[in-house]
Amino acid sequence: MSQSGRFITVEGIDGAGKSSHIEWLREYLTNLGHAVIVTREPGGTPLGEALRTMLLNEPMSPETEMMLMFAARAEHLVTVIRPALARGAWVISDRFSDATYAYQVGGRGVPAHKFTALESWVQDGLQPDRTILFDVSVATAQARLHDTRVLDRFEREAADFHQRVRDAYHARAAQFPERIRLVASDVPMAQVREQILLALGDLLVPDNAV
Ligand code: TMP
Repeated sequence: MSQSGRFITVEGIDGAGKSSHIEWLREYLTNLGHAVIVTREPGGTPLGEALRTMLLNEPMSPETEMMLMFAARAEHLVTVIRPALARGAWVISDRFSDATYAYQVGGRGVPAHKFTALESWVQDGLQPDRTILFDVSVATAQARLHDTRVLDRFEREAADFHQRVRDAYHARAAQFPERIRLVASDVPMAQVREQILLALGDLLVPDNAV
């Protein structure tokens, strides 16, 4: 059994279909013998979940929004993510700071240097070991969303907002090609899963196989 924890994050525009694959990935990794926790942002702690309710519902300025995302993340890192990694668990987080870059910098237009300052303060150099970026066109994602349920403050944004978010995710993936792997999510489920395993390939090698 592996002794070293790994930090995996899952990203994508609203409606990219990431949630349906997260439970599958948890099971897959658990069956390999890893301790796995699944968590989410904004959220993952009692304070983070309270902030999530505000973030998804209350109008606020883009900069307030970015700072609250990082406030929730600070608590999440200290009380959940870092302790889990330290005891050797794999952490799967449904979103992390690439979402802040995509939504608050790309979507809302907050200057990137403000993101960078908060990122280095809150994360202190910690980055995910791998990020799976579910990629789908804005048109497909919007059709999925409008099919389902009551939409939150981000989901209700116009298509051009979501296009800016998608473009910012792509820019970030181009900047960190080793870490961020694109997975096309508008294909049959089995093919999405194949791409996920390919994206995680080198991390899945047992420690004692090296
Ligand atoms: P979810 O619907 O995937 O759980 O994510 C909640 C929303 O929060 C989603 O629309 C993206 C948004 N979000 C940001 O805008 N910035 C962030 O840093 C994070 C983590 C999420």
